[in-house]
Amino acid sequence: MKNRQSNIRLGIFGFGCVGQGLYNVVQTIAQAGIEVAKICVKDREKPRTLPTSAFTYDPQELLQDTSINILAELISDADEAYHIVKQALLAGRTIVSANKKMLARHLPELITLQQNYGGTLLYEAAVGGSIPIIRTLESYYSAEPLTKVRGILNGSSNYILTKMEAESLSYSLALQQAQELGFAEAIPTLDVGGYDTVNKLSLIAAHGFGATVQPEDVLRFGINTVTEADLTIAQTINSRIRLVATAAVDEDNKLTLRVLPTFVTEADELYYVQNETNGVSIDPVFAGEQFLKGSGAGSFPTGSAVWADVSAAIAGYRYTYPKAAKKTVAINQESELFLYLRCTEEVELAPALKLRLNLLQTTAGDSIYSLLIKERELLRLHSYLSDQQVFVAEITAEQAKLIALQSGVAEAMIY
Ligand SMILES: NC(=O)c1ccc[n+]([C@@H]2O[C@H](COP(=O)([O-])OP(=O)(O)OC[C@H]3O[C@@H](n4cnc5c(N)ncnc54)[C@H](OP(=O)(O)O)[C@@H]3O)[C@@H](O)[C@H]2O)c1
Repeated sequence: MKNRQSNIRLGIFGFGCVGQGLYNVVQTIAQAGIEVAKICVKDREKPRTLPTSAFTYDPQELLQDTSINILAELISDADEAYHIVKQALLAGRTIVSANKKMLARHLPELITLQQNYGGTLLYEAAVGGSIPIIRTLESYYSAEPLTKVRGILNGSSNYILTKMEAESLSYSLALQQAQELGFAEAIPTLDVGGYDTVNKLSLIAAHGFGATVQPEDVLRFGINTVTEADLTIAQTINSRIRLVATAAVDEDNKLTLRVLPTFVTEADELYYVQNETNGVSIDPVFAGEQFLKGSGAGSFPTGSAVWADVSAAIAGYRYTYPKAAKKTVAINQESELFLYLRCTEEVELAPALKLRLNLLQTTAGDSIYSLLIKERELLRLHSYLSDQQVFVAEITAEQAKLIALQSGVAEAMIY
């Protein structure tokens, strides 16, 4: 595991998709001057591509070895990842991580630990795979306010939506394909339920807007109730459905955060983000909109992002959360959304809600409505709508009107 002129010793936790990606990048860039000291894994029986001597099963072997200059936490267990990162930061060590679930849940504490003990934590691979979004928000736009960051951040959901639309696959078949190709977890709720996207959005909120948010406070609907009918309807109005994360501030510096399936048109860059690819648009006040697109997952793309963190950390780079030090950002739940709702005709929607729904179409036993609603109210209705298996997506009034016109419900009143 030694490279020529090695002088930096790297300890890796995890040798799965991302851990192996990092290892292979380090080995390929021979002049890197990095020596992989040891790799910590869990399963003693698993066949490995490296000799047994390369591995340990005891995290303390890496955490207590002070000859290791830098640690990379790349394991799939979020609780254990938290203990590893916390112990490293308590000792003032430098550690990089890809674990968005752990980071989103514990970010405030991990920032405090860095301030108190002088350690460094970087996590570019946790958001958008190979797309350098965190460092762009944190460093390049440290001094320019942003109005919006919006993107597709979950490769599995995007793969499922693309396949359903392009090949008329059912949701379950597209999901099965995504799992077989290794894009979706064995238990896919984290991806298709929008949780993974929310975790990534909360990291974007910290670096792009200086906001600390708990993932459960973010409005979230996933794609787990989408059907071929929804995608066909989107196609008839020259749109596509994508799982979109949005962080946007208004003039009062109030921040809206939401993850929702969204009807995107051909004029939107997100329309062209296909399969497992990720895409993020950044809207700075002066620079004008920019769009980054790239591999959101996979061994080499994610390994590349971790490698970028390792090399930056070696050069002394650390996050300073510059936006957090400026103005306090309040979370806005008063903004209004225009929604597309689809449910089976058997679903008995609450009368108070039904009165405000605007019928757009009935199709094969399903009713499709539009609804103008405040975010706070939608948050309250979240579990009710999810329990009723209602598919919820953001749509514009113009798009809703087109659906109504095409179905002959032309007189439908669109807000
Ligand atoms: N895959 C991607 O494209 C991607 C992209 C961005 C971020 N991430 C994040 O990167 C992390 C790793 O993902 P992955 O896809 O590489 O996972 P993976 O392929 O399932 O590999 C997980 C690795 O973690 C090790 N591990 C699990 N629990 C452990 C424990 N308690 N102690 C020590 N090692 C343990 C496993 O050990 P064994 O080998 O012994 O089983 C395995 O080597 C996750 O947080 C994931 O969310 C992944």
